[in-house]
Amino acid sequence: MTHRIGLIKGDGIGPEVVDEALKALDATGVSFEPVEFDLGARRYLATGEVLPDSVLDEIRTLDAVLLGAVGHPNVPPGVLERGLLLRLRFELDLYVNLRPVKLLAGAATPLAGKGPDDIDMVVVRENTEGAYIGEGGVLRPGTAVEVASQGSLNTRSGVERCVRYAFNVAGTRPRRHVTLCHKTNVLTYAGDLWMRTTREVAGEYPNVTFDYAHVDAACLYMVEQPERFDVIVTDNLFGDILTDLGAAIAGGMGLAASGNINPGKETPSVFEPVHGSAPDIAGKGLANPLAAVLSAGMMLDHLGEYAAALRVEAGVAGTLEKLAGAGGGTTAQTMKHSTQEIGDLVADHIAREA
Ligand code: NAI
Ligand code: MG
Repeated sequence: MTHRIGLIKGDGIGPEVVDEALKALDATGVSFEPVEFDLGARRYLATGEVLPDSVLDEIRTLDAVLLGAVGHPNVPPGVLERGLLLRLRFELDLYVNLRPVKLLAGAATPLAGKGPDDIDMVVVRENTEGAYIGEGGVLRPGTAVEVASQGSLNTRSGVERCVRYAFNVAGTRPRRHVTLCHKTNVLTYAGDLWMRTTREVAGEYPNVTFDYAHVDAACLYMVEQPERFDVIVTDNLFGDILTDLGAAIAGGMGLAASGNINPGKETPSVFEPVHGSAPDIAGKGLANPLAAVLSAGMMLDHLGEYAAALRVEAGVAGTLEKLAGAGGGTTAQTMKHSTQEIGDLVADHIAREA
C-alpha cells in the first residue's frame, strides 16, 4: 500500500530537516507518494495567501502530512500560527497533540542522575479547545482603561475524546498509567469538568491506573521525579507549556517531535518537529534534523507501519549513541556534524536494520 503524504516543508530550516526525514522514510522501504505544498512565510510574503481553501481541500484527501516549520521575521506574529498551524488543527479536527518525552539512549538530559529508564512518558495535549480557540476580545485598546478578556472553552465531548485517547495509549504501554494535569483548585469550573470526565473514563479502563497532579506541581515533578509519569493528559495551554519542559529534559528542541492527530483517521494527521524555522541558523547546514526524523517515525506509527516506526526511532537512538562520543548535544553544532551528515547516519542505520 502506498501512503500519500503531504509535505509542508515551510521556511528557514524547515526544508532542510524535512529532506533528512524523507531520507529516513526512504530507508525504511515503506512505499509513499509525496505531495508537496508551498505554504508558509515565503508564500504569504509573495502572495498574501496563508492557507487557501482549495489547498485545504487537497490536503483532506491525503493519508498524513509532514510539516517542517513555518515563520519568518517579516511575518507579523499570529498570521501563520492562527492562519495555518491552528487552522489545520481546527479544520481537520486534530484533537490530540501527542508529544513523546522519551530520553533516547545517547541523548543528553540536564537532569543529574536521570537516564532513559526515568524519562519515558507521552503528553496527550487537547488540541482544539481551551484557551487557544480565540475566544474573548478587547475594549478601548491602547488606553489606560483597556480591557482584555480571553477565555478557555472546554466541552464535555471534547475533553472526553481526548482523555479516552490517553487511556487507549496508556493501555499499550508497559506501565499503563495516566496522570491528569490541571489546576482544579483554582480553575474550578473547567477543572471540575476535566476531573469528572477523566474519573468516569478511568472507570472503563480497569487495567490502567489514574492519578492527578496540579500543573505547577507537575513541572516540579518532571524535573525532580520524571519517573512518576507515563501518560499525561492535559488541556491545550497547560500542554503547550509542559511539553516545552518535556523537550528540555529529553534532549532539547533538536529532538522534540509531535503529532497533531485525528485518532479516528477521518482526516490526515499532521506530524511536525516542535521547533520553529530557526532563521538564525537557516541555510547553514547547522539544524539538527532528528526532531523531524522522529516526527516522521510517529507518522509511520499512525499509518500502521509499526515495524518501520520502531526502526526509525532505533536509527535515531543509534545515531545519537554514535555521536555521543563526539560531544553529544542536541544542536547540530554540538554534534559536530552537518544536517545532511546526521540524516545520512540515520538512514544508514535504518537500512542496516532491515
Ligand atoms: P525556533 O525553534 O525556530 O528557534 C529557537 C532556537 O533554537 C534558535 O536559536 C534556533 O537556532 C534553535 N533551534 C531550533 N531548532 C533547531 C534545530 N533543529 N537544530 C538546531 N537548533 C535549533 O523558535 P523561534 O526562534 O522562537 O522562532 C523562529 C520562527 O519559527 C518564528 O517565525 C516562529 O514564529 C516560528 N515557529 C514556528 C513553529 C512551527 O512551525 N510549528 C513553532 C515555533 C516557532
Ligand atoms: Mg510551544
